[in-house]
Amino acid sequence: MPPPDHLLRNADVDWDAWPVDAYLAECYAKLFPLDDAVIVHHSAFYRRIPPDSVARSVEFGAGPNLYPLLLAGAASRCIEALDRSAANLAYLRRQIHDGPDPRWLTFHRRCRELNPALPTDPGQILARVKMIAGDGLDLSAGAYDLASMHFVAEGATEDPDEFARFCGRFVAAVRPGGYLVAAFIEGLGRYRAGTDRQWPGYPVDRDVVRAVFSPWTSDLVVDRIDRDATPVGFDYTGVVLLTARRREADGA
Ligand SMILES: C[S@@+](CC[C@H](N)C(=O)[O-])C[C@H]1O[C@@H](n2cnc3c(N)ncnc32)[C@H](O)[C@@H]1O
Repeated sequence: MPPPDHLLRNADVDWDAWPVDAYLAECYAKLFPLDDAVIVHHSAFYRRIPPDSVARSVEFGAGPNLYPLLLAGAASRCIEALDRSAANLAYLRRQIHDGPDPRWLTFHRRCRELNPALPTDPGQILARVKMIAGDGLDLSAGAYDLASMHFVAEGATEDPDEFARFCGRFVAAVRPGGYLVAAFIEGLGRYRAGTDRQWPGYPVDRDVVRAVFSPWTSDLVVDRIDRDATPVGFDYTGVVLLTARRREADGA
């Protein structure tokens, strides 16, 4: 970890310059084992939620990743994709209006194999997606029934307190009792996302995630999977996976 005065915080980098194409090429060129494991884990969570029973959900820091939106497509009638990066939102807008890139069809097939309640046409799911340009740290509390987050709090700051604030806003985004599902890269450090520019990374593990979420949640389950052969360009040791509900009375 860099010393405290060298930590990159969320406002220190230009998220509008997020390298969408390089990131997609590095992380989502195809369905790698890392994401397959996340999809298997999250599908078990989504299968327990009756279709169309969630009025409004949010994907917190959506980036250009379509599979978290596809996963939510049976449970949620309105999926809001929140991000502060104009580049990521422009990519999402094209996916919604012009149809998904062929790469996402494999992801959709896998999600549907594991949750047959998902529509056969990914376009039907994307029609439920609404883009929200904004800062997750300013997200108002209690507006959603379900919140999901993939590789954001630990990939958007190096400051432990700011990591906890991201997680706190994520939890507070749902009403008390609302559903939470998330994935964190374990052991991440500062990373490049396929270019020369550097992006903040905070190395978390299962204990860090459990300690941050415990005070605000009930039914908290924190799992992890080991690093696999997925050829990503950053160092990591595994993936931490979380499901929970927001506590009925909390301080998030
Ligand atoms: C490592 S990327 C993960 C992207 C995507 N969720 C995925 O699964 O690949 C981090 C994402 O967080 C977004 N982000 C960073 N700071 C944010 C903030 N304060 N509010 C909302 N989104 C933010 C970035 O624009 C980027 O899309």
